[in-house]
Amino acid sequence: MKVIQSASELAQFCLEANREIGFVPTMGALHEGHLELLRAAQAAGDFAVVSVFVNPLQFNNAQDLAKYPRSLEADSSMLEKAGADVLFVPSAEEVYPSSPMASGVELGELANRLEGSFRPGHFEGVLQVLTRLFSLVQPTRAYFGQKDLQQCMVVRKLIEQKFSALQMVTVPTVRAQSGLALSSRNQRLSPQGLDTASAIYQQLKSLSQALELGPALEASTEQLALLGIETEYLQAVALPDMNPIDHAEESEEKALVFAGYLEGVRLIDNLLF
Ligand code: PAF
Repeated sequence: MKVIQSASELAQFCLEANREIGFVPTMGALHEGHLELLRAAQAAGDFAVVSVFVNPLQFNNAQDLAKYPRSLEADSSMLEKAGADVLFVPSAEEVYPSSPMASGVELGELANRLEGSFRPGHFEGVLQVLTRLFSLVQPTRAYFGQKDLQQCMVVRKLIEQKFSALQMVTVPTVRAQSGLALSSRNQRLSPQGLDTASAIYQQLKSLSQALELGPALEASTEQLALLGIETEYLQAVALPDMNPIDHAEESEEKALVFAGYLEGVRLIDNLLF
């Protein structure tokens, strides 16, 4: 695996590889969920480029950015073992050589719903960094985890509007045995917290069987609160625009989506149903 910091070196190395590039953008603190994205790229026969860049533009909270786990050495050895071709670790100057420009991507209502409303500016930050990274890496395919479901819908719009030749691949969420969705943020939970957090997925599963969504969503929120999990949102939504629905029959493609806090750590999860 080649570790590359500069965009020009990356371009040269990829040119010499003369293969289709599969790109896995990450913010590091890698876990099995990221490795699953890499494996999907490898299964497609791609030259696998993984980036690690903690993008300051997508954090609406300075404390969250400061606390975001960073573990480049461990990430690098994990990727090396998993057979990645390139680890791209650009500096902020490399990603944003001049002041970042508005992405100009039209998200419609998707921008203001759920994550968009609780994390103002977050998706615009994601759009700006991906616009820049896609331009630098020039991938044929880009791989994203379904755990960040709304991000997947946002990236879909970016690709439709600005990178129409790029194929987006969405990979199902990887879970611990307890059902807890793997996330870099889980590192900040205590062993007890890790155990408790598995209730989120259990509630999503039981909600997916509910006959009456409204009362079931309320009951799940209460159950989670009893365990110390403070719900920010727990909703059924139609895809791809994530508009809230009251009845499962309202949409073919739909998901239950959750965001909340446990031990001061923000956790998200979702379940297609
Ligand atoms: O999902 C993430 O880790 C980030 O939002 C991404 C896509 C790498 C952009 O910084």
